[in-house]
Amino acid sequence: MGQDLVFFGHEDLVQAVKERVSDMKRVGLLTSGGDCQALNATMRGVVKALGNNIEELEVYGFMNGYKGLIYGDYRLLTPKDFSGILTQGGTIIGSSRQPFKLMRVPDEKGLDKVEAMKQNYYKLRLDCLVILGGNGTQKTANLLREEGLNIIHLPKTIDNDIYGTDMTFGFYSAVNIATDAIDCIHTTAASHNRVFIVEIMGHKVGWLTLYSGIAGGADIILIPEIPYHIDKVIEAIDKRTKAGKGFTVIAVAEGAISAPDSKKSKKELKKKMETKKYPSVAYELAEEILERSGTEVRITVPGHTQRGGSPCPYDRALSTRLGAAAAKLILDEQYGYMVGIVNNKTQKVPLKDVAGKLKTVSPDDQFIKEAKLLGISFGD
Ligand code: F6P
Repeated sequence: MGQDLVFFGHEDLVQAVKERVSDMKRVGLLTSGGDCQALNATMRGVVKALGNNIEELEVYGFMNGYKGLIYGDYRLLTPKDFSGILTQGGTIIGSSRQPFKLMRVPDEKGLDKVEAMKQNYYKLRLDCLVILGGNGTQKTANLLREEGLNIIHLPKTIDNDIYGTDMTFGFYSAVNIATDAIDCIHTTAASHNRVFIVEIMGHKVGWLTLYSGIAGGADIILIPEIPYHIDKVIEAIDKRTKAGKGFTVIAVAEGAISAPDSKKSKKELKKKMETKKYPSVAYELAEEILERSGTEVRITVPGHTQRGGSPCPYDRALSTRLGAAAAKLILDEQYGYMVGIVNNKTQKVPLKDVAGKLKTVSPDDQFIKEAKLLGISFGD
């Protein structure tokens, strides 16, 4: 980190880009935000497809997300770096969170981050920058596009909340892990008369909880998009007890919220958190269930295990396809897009149309209706 920035004038920058050798590509790569499975598989897809189709390729990996781009911390990567990483979790170039809202705020030494990112891009005479990340990352990618850089975004996240793509890579690998956690709870739950709560990641949306909850046979599924009524949750537990089932498994999304809380203002919610501190929603729910029903409750929070380990076969295939499709855009010199998957076809989606939008679960989704037919309670 901390390489000296050489500041170019506008004309030098334009000249630098013009001077690049036409049958050669210089591509920058960065992975930003919380990591997930298949980041490496996606980068491998991009680089393999490019390497297979152009004479000369230079790939620069910016270390630890936008931080590397801001401070000029990069490595020239070779094909060897991308070999054997299809199955490897994490990211070979590291990641970090650099909030979008702070991008226009100078750093502690007064550095203009956006200008610094542009300078590093031009200094390396990049043809384009391939950015792997979630929603926040995408907003900064769009900002850099607006600033004139050639950008391609690839949708990464276990949350599956990126607008404009049916699926994000990392999601199904996380579904597998969260489902395993619920499966394990099921066997122990069946031996005891207790309520078990498994808290699933997903940030502000319920995709991960919905899929893993249904795959793991959860009896109650609580997601942010459907604020829960504690009475309905108790009712569902009682119904199972009356039916002779001694235990209940609840899959709760980390972003789930009770119906009364969902009506509160941000200020009121903050005040509530100050007076009654729960580590997370699962603990609040557990206390409410214990108070109202007297039933013993146990909590499991698989946490970051959901982002760890090797990508599942679906994610390996998806990320390889997205990587290859991104390479095709680079070969065709088409920039300013996210590469998504829609109806099982890779698709270029204009960044300007999707940046800043969130893909949430609709309470009217067919999936929810089908789950309700089975008797699964959503606490509504
Ligand atoms: O966005 C991915 C995600 O894993 C969310 O599901 C979760 O809320 C968040 O990141 C956790 O972030 P961090 O790793 O910064 O604690």
